Amino acid sequence: MKEDKASSTAYSVVHGILHTAKNPQLSHLVDDDTTEACTMILSASTEGRKRLAQLNSPMGSKLLPFLEWLLLPGITLNYVLRKKFIEEKVLEAISDSTIQVINIGAGFDTLAWRLSRRFPSVTFIEIDHPATSIEKTKALSKTSFSSPNLFFAAADLSKTSLESVLENCSGFDAKRKTLYICEGVLMYLDEVHVIEIFDAIKGLTGSGSLFVFSCMEPGKSDKNNVRPLLHLYLKLKNERYRWYIPDTAIKHFVDERRYSFMEMANSETYLQNYLPKGYKKTLHQGEYIVMAKAR
Ligand SMILES: C[S@@+](CC[C@H](N)C(=O)[O-])C[C@H]1O[C@@H](n2cnc3c(N)ncnc32)[C@H](O)[C@@H]1O
Repeated sequence: MKEDKASSTAYSVVHGILHTAKNPQLSHLVDDDTTEACTMILSASTEGRKRLAQLNSPMGSKLLPFLEWLLLPGITLNYVLRKKFIEEKVLEAISDSTIQVINIGAGFDTLAWRLSRRFPSVTFIEIDHPATSIEKTKALSKTSFSSPNLFFAAADLSKTSLESVLENCSGFDAKRKTLYICEGVLMYLDEVHVIEIFDAIKGLTGSGSLFVFSCMEPGKSDKNNVRPLLHLYLKLKNERYRWYIPDTAIKHFVDERRYSFMEMANSETYLQNYLPKGYKKTLHQGEYIVMAKAR
């Protein structure tokens, strides 16, 4: 990641969501609140406005599907589907008395922003690299709404521990039942930092803490449809993948960290749960979501 530039992949996620919202076959997957929040975030920066202009131009709107085909087939829709699954897990946890939601590497995700209004008694905390966090808070500060239960913490998690980030965040309360999200992030960290995050969560809010996170299958896995060119692209953006784990190994991995594996979702889950019957277009393969609970 470039130290002084907001994450390019964080922009790509929001860009992809708005692209999906424009597709008549799939627009029902993106609600108006999300579209509005994504547009607001992109409108606040030069890079974001460039992406909005692309979405609105006939030529530009063809570029994203082309890049997707070249690098990561099906990824645009995957952003929307994984977020739908994660939001369901967050809502289930809130209805089961979770009162703190912490999004690690939140990027330009809109869940905390939207749900903090709906659930004023739940604390939402977003953590991201300073270069991305600053763009996000700048965008949200332009709106008239401020949520007293929404907090932002800026930190490079390869240099600062999750414990010290949260212990210095005024909104954080170690006594609250907490769900942590780490979506589209762990693959950018070295395994040592991935393990530190698992350990930190246990140390911060203890057993019963919920953790929903995404993982990548190894590049050479036949469960992956990532194209080799993606790695060159990510290298140019300074956002290389560093951590992979096959889905067959994830239960053992979470068990070793003293978490109980609860559930996993992948493109098959999304196809069954969210897509119209007979949906035939290519879905992203390789990223999967895991829900686990600290023991
Ligand atoms: C692909 S984006 C995902 C954003 C968001 N979670 C989502 O799914 O919409 C990856 C995010 O990880 C964050 N990130 C990557 N490395 C990080 C680090 N070392 N410390 C903090 N954040 C990091 C980036 O800033 C970026 O927002």
